[in-house]
Amino acid sequence: MCGIVGYIGYDQATPLLLEGLKKLEYRGYDSAGVAIHTGSELKVVKAQGRLQMLSDKINNGNNIKGFLGIGHTRWATHGKPSEKNSHPHVSQLGKFAVVHNGIIENYIQIKEELLKNGVKFVSDTDTEVVAQLIEYYYDADILNTMSKVANKIEGSYALGIVCLDKPNELIAMRKSSPLIIGIGKNENFIASDVTAIISRTRDIIRLNDEEIAIIKKDKVTVYDKNKNRVTPIPFHVDWNISTSEKSGYEHFMLKEIMEQPKSIMETIKPRIKDGKIVLDDLNFSKDDLEKISKICIIACGSAYHVGFVAKYIFEKILRKPVEITIASEFRYMDPIIDDSVLVISISQSGETADTLAALREAKSSGAKVLSIVNVVGSSIANDSDDVIYTWAGPEIAVATTKAYSTQLSVVYLLAIHMAYMLSKITKEQYDSYINDLLLLPEKVEEILANKDTIKSFAQKFCNCKNIFFIGRNIDYAVSLEGSLKLKEISYIHSEAYPAGELKHGTISLIEEGTLVVALATNDMLFDKMVSNIKEVKARGAVVLSLTTEKHKDLEEISDFNICIPQVCDMMMASLSVIPLQLFAYYVAHLKGCDIDKPRNLAKSVTVE
Ligand code: F6R
Repeated sequence: MCGIVGYIGYDQATPLLLEGLKKLEYRGYDSAGVAIHTGSELKVVKAQGRLQMLSDKINNGNNIKGFLGIGHTRWATHGKPSEKNSHPHVSQLGKFAVVHNGIIENYIQIKEELLKNGVKFVSDTDTEVVAQLIEYYYDADILNTMSKVANKIEGSYALGIVCLDKPNELIAMRKSSPLIIGIGKNENFIASDVTAIISRTRDIIRLNDEEIAIIKKDKVTVYDKNKNRVTPIPFHVDWNISTSEKSGYEHFMLKEIMEQPKSIMETIKPRIKDGKIVLDDLNFSKDDLEKISKICIIACGSAYHVGFVAKYIFEKILRKPVEITIASEFRYMDPIIDDSVLVISISQSGETADTLAALREAKSSGAKVLSIVNVVGSSIANDSDDVIYTWAGPEIAVATTKAYSTQLSVVYLLAIHMAYMLSKITKEQYDSYINDLLLLPEKVEEILANKDTIKSFAQKFCNCKNIFFIGRNIDYAVSLEGSLKLKEISYIHSEAYPAGELKHGTISLIEEGTLVVALATNDMLFDKMVSNIKEVKARGAVVLSLTTEKHKDLEEISDFNICIPQVCDMMMASLSVIPLQLFAYYVAHLKGCDIDKPRNLAKSVTVE
């Protein structure tokens, strides 16, 4: 979603802001802009469309000189994509320029009040209200002004502000939308995401909710919204810069798909010591585990699909009831939660507004919240009782692949660890699961080595209009992910169905030539899948089946077949998802789609 970057220091701000915004492009956007304090004026330039348009307008940043500035990539929420609605927004008298991520929920009410007081608006956005309100309250004391603003606006915001009267100050404030401060040597930054500034600094302060920061080139001062000083705790980010570069791949998505053996290994290996799973970050005694009456999993999108797999696994080996709910539904469905419930939230970014809101709802009802998160220090990580990090490194492509795989890996670790603590599995089963876990990276590698076969299938099917994915049990959960991957990047309509459910209605959509991707990796349910494949074939479907070496003969009743290696049923998701990711990638590639930045989508969805 929208991206923010801000700079104050000894270097020219504009090229640095453009460079930072470039790193944030992956979040998705429709327009971009910068505001630079030139020493005598606030120079604002905006452009609709790609960042290159903005860059071209200002000669790659060389046309505007100044050592203080803010930049923004906008993903429209209030007001359609246009130059006038893009950020930075400037107040009526030109004293303030503001960039904003989030949504000001009471902006209409504030706008009406300001209109009555003669303030004139030029855009349709909620953000302009903030710019005007700051100027309206401004009394030469920035902290005092921002404190009044913080007490007036409602909703979510990460704000970067420059003031004409303050050529040596960058101002920031945030609530429920991420904003970090990067600490450099004689230069400081703000950003919505570490990737924007990691090439200049790795020392980070994370602003907490309703904190205001006054940032000079050599000093950062942070206050709460009532003007009390707070002492922020900086942390160091050790992400490898090359993980945020394409390293020779045509797209980040392909690079991230290919990185999965390494990412899975890095998530699992350090947590297995002397043949035992060691989850240092988990504060659960056997007694705590025994008292859990049910597990509720909350997440969105692909992370929700990981939760779907987790439900099958936890219920199978932990024998505890598991509910899995889409986070945006959870908080408004009056969930039955108390302190005996363990809530597990899953999120790559750790900033998904719906997941964060659901997590807070669960905590307020007394539940303990354990989160599976990729981004260290993110809002979801901060608000959780326990966090297990996925250590996938930065994921840039909008469509998740390696984060999904590492989330699955954490689910296995957690389920096996808990089941063993509760004596639900024997020592032999425990050892055998650990053995399978450690084999995952090389088995994923084997599938990746065969990627040209998947590419050849993509060539056959890239002109399809509708595709169905079917499976049972965990294969169904993976079908959901395969279908989502395909539609989000190739724009081909697809549906995932539990294979046994098709004949209760949806089979009427199958006609001559409809592609059905059938997942049949589960030994126990294999024969049932064979029947379901025959059912769709009898109605004219073309079947691309996906199974394990053991069931290779499935190719006889399929039109095309993908054969993958075997691990225990519980971990097959980690292998079966790989061909589906590759299939989606190659189909989208052949269709000429913008793979890393699919239309209308954002990487980190920070509004509800
Ligand atoms: C799909 C995808 C999204 C995210 C979802 C949750 O490829 O990436 O569906 O999984 O928006 O995001 P996080 O995991 O950041 O909470």
